Amino acid sequence: MFGAGIAHATPAADDGYDGSSLWLRYPAVDDPRLLAGYRASITAIVVENADRTKVHRHTANLSMAPGSTEHLVETTLQAARDELVRGLGGLLGRPVPVRDAPGGRIPAGAVVAGTRTGSPAVHRSVSAGDLAAIGDDGYLVRSCRAGGQAFTVIAGNTDLGVLYGTFAFLQRLQTRQAVTHLNVSSAPRIRRRYLNYWETERLYAGNNASGTGGLNGENGAIFDFAATGAGAALNLPVILDRYLVAARAMASVGINGITINNVNANSGYLTPAAIEQEAALADALRPYGIRLALSINYAAPTDARFAPDTLTREQLDPYGAQFRDWWNRRARRLQAAIPDFIGFTVKANSEGQPGPQDLGYDHGDGANGIAAAVAPLGMRIFWRTFVYNADVDRDRLKRAYLEFGPLDGKFADNVFIQTKNGPLDYQAREPVHPLFGRMEHTDQALELQITQEYTGQNTMLCYLGPLWEEVLKADTYATDEHGRLLRKRLVGDIVEGTTRSRPDSAIIGVANLGNADNLTGHHFAQANLFAYGRLAWDWTAGSRNLAEDWVRMTWGHHPDVVRTIVAMMTGSREAVVSYQTPLGVAHQFRSSDHYGPAPGERLSREDWSPVYYNQADSAGLGYDRSPTGSGFTAQYFPILAARYGDIDSVPEDLLMWFHHVPWDRRLRGGRIFWDELVSRYELGVGYVTWMRHAWDSLEARLDARRFAEVKAKLAAHEADAAGWRDTCVGYWQQFSGLALPDDGPLSVAVVVAGTSATSRRIPVPAGASPRITKVVPADPAARAEVLAQPRSVPGQAVVRVTATSSFGPVVKDHVFDVVPTGGEPGAPPGSPPAAHGTGA
Ligand code: GCU
Repeated sequence: MFGAGIAHATPAADDGYDGSSLWLRYPAVDDPRLLAGYRASITAIVVENADRTKVHRHTANLSMAPGSTEHLVETTLQAARDELVRGLGGLLGRPVPVRDAPGGRIPAGAVVAGTRTGSPAVHRSVSAGDLAAIGDDGYLVRSCRAGGQAFTVIAGNTDLGVLYGTFAFLQRLQTRQAVTHLNVSSAPRIRRRYLNYWETERLYAGNNASGTGGLNGENGAIFDFAATGAGAALNLPVILDRYLVAARAMASVGINGITINNVNANSGYLTPAAIEQEAALADALRPYGIRLALSINYAAPTDARFAPDTLTREQLDPYGAQFRDWWNRRARRLQAAIPDFIGFTVKANSEGQPGPQDLGYDHGDGANGIAAAVAPLGMRIFWRTFVYNADVDRDRLKRAYLEFGPLDGKFADNVFIQTKNGPLDYQAREPVHPLFGRMEHTDQALELQITQEYTGQNTMLCYLGPLWEEVLKADTYATDEHGRLLRKRLVGDIVEGTTRSRPDSAIIGVANLGNADNLTGHHFAQANLFAYGRLAWDWTAGSRNLAEDWVRMTWGHHPDVVRTIVAMMTGSREAVVSYQTPLGVAHQFRSSDHYGPAPGERLSREDWSPVYYNQADSAGLGYDRSPTGSGFTAQYFPILAARYGDIDSVPEDLLMWFHHVPWDRRLRGGRIFWDELVSRYELGVGYVTWMRHAWDSLEARLDARRFAEVKAKLAAHEADAAGWRDTCVGYWQQFSGLALPDDGPLSVAVVVAGTSATSRRIPVPAGASPRITKVVPADPAARAEVLAQPRSVPGQAVVRVTATSSFGPVVKDHVFDVVPTGGEPGAPPGSPPAAHGTGA
């Protein structure tokens, strides 16, 4: 029955697949029983009046580039219908016809999508009361029965809600869930689920060899505004396939806005020619519910490109009519072309950007000045709190709070302040930013970084879901004005707005899209965009479940594939923390690119220097921010202030964020700080080794191109992780003066010729067997196996140690050189001891 004609998603069939469909690939269901069930339940698609409510289109001749495979739609319901056609047709391995519901008769097996006002069939199936609780963006997916016919209804109050419901329904099939007896209702917890897009800054998804740029005159960014050479003919307003793939993917996880240019903003985006291009992009994205915003430069009015409509520097006074009128004029031009334009993202008085402080005003004055200019147009201002003016305090981490805390309650109603999750800069682990919970009278947006600036860029596999879950579920211990703990005080509660009962709420992800074939550079970086969107919709979701959904939608359903890849993802972020910045030592990155380690680097600005963050000396390591140090801990609510301020109670994962830790201090697990620090580096690398092995085990189950691309990335990842370990441990050792521990969790002793050895060079007396006769792992729970024995002297042996860390399996291959006794002058200078540098 299912033989011929079904396109089974066997790896061999699509060995060249490049990942360009993201998680919307829809390969046919290859489990015959499941397929039969899905085919029985789903036989037609009904989207009534799909062509009726056209979205605004500014660009008269909006068109796709020649040869495109995606297509433009004019309504959100067309987008929903076409996704059902594409998705169901792919998943069921045969076309599913689009039908009407003549005379109100809904065909058996129909998937009916629509609103009560647009679709009589939906109107009959779902009551107004049913839809009351789901708001503008929510949806219902229900199994219904009428006149003896079973069918499925996807309903929303708006066309966009229907589109979101459509993706949710398709996702059920993509993740192999039941499609009968459905009674699903979902609404987003956060209203504005946006991306910020920095174009080519911190871009690791370009299509040149390094992933940081583009080819053919493109710059690597996903949207082409100013490509030269061969790419020039395809600049906006021409629409490219990848814009629509990205739009569909964003909509599939509920993302509903994007600031399309860098926060270090080029004012060229405000010129009439650029606005025409932006309008075309907005036209193409609008059916998917994605609205545009722009980043602006506070001093844009002085930019000569706007002559004669320019202001002088003195006229940048946020209370001045000229300043406000200027921004109002720009905003009106934008709104004329893009009626649903969101507003502006502003990075001011930060990292060299101009701002109100240049004229003696504060951030509140500046934000409110521009906000007043655009308020009559219904636009919003997202004013970033990423500021660290060195005059404010010696400790960089204290500065944003000191500047913004006192402004609570002073911001206009159409202002959000936009705050990164932590007080520093998107490190793999940070304590939460102390502003969360403190700005009770201010709309506060949370900013997360999806692009992996500090988490391995396009080389390292780092699933960020666990990081964001940790942030969103972090307890601020916020109290009310009487000092009583609030009931809802997690960061997610604060972002959602429930603590303030304000209707508006926003979350921002700094996106990782580029023009690489797979749009994100590393195949696994797709998962970060997916997880961000899903958490933006429902921050209470579990990152592990999101990983599993993504794996099923992206790599397949074989139990080995799902189990192995989910496991790899789940521990990957903790591994990065472990081999880059364990126990809370922050920002040890090389300044040139924020990829590799440079713990000894000292830059012109002390607060850009790794040495400023590590404070390494002969006494210990870490930045003392306790009450007797910088006092940063006082910016937290009392419970956290006390917990973080005391070295005995601070969570060890955050230890060096708050304390200068003596090298020989005993940690909770019983080891001294130095030993624990070294073993954390080791465990992080060991996890990457394990991931490489785990990935290799899936070769037969994955399509060839993507398998090979990830395999190559993992090899580089492992080498670079080891580089982090060796560079950092070597540097710290100059201060600690302590030997490397030989009882680390991956350490092993071997017995050769009756003698036990841990060193990498093993002397063997003349005539004795060079074979390893016994292996003894330092961790009794670890497993050690001899992978290779030396045949003669000199020769080499390889011993693999496998252990379990708190974040997953860890593996290390130790290489031992067997040398003749007397011929071992000791390890050559600079050669790493047994515990290090002997990775496979
Ligand atoms: C980081 C990043 C910059 C970016 C800045 C910001 O420092 O390295 O590229 O401009 O954050 O968020 O404004």
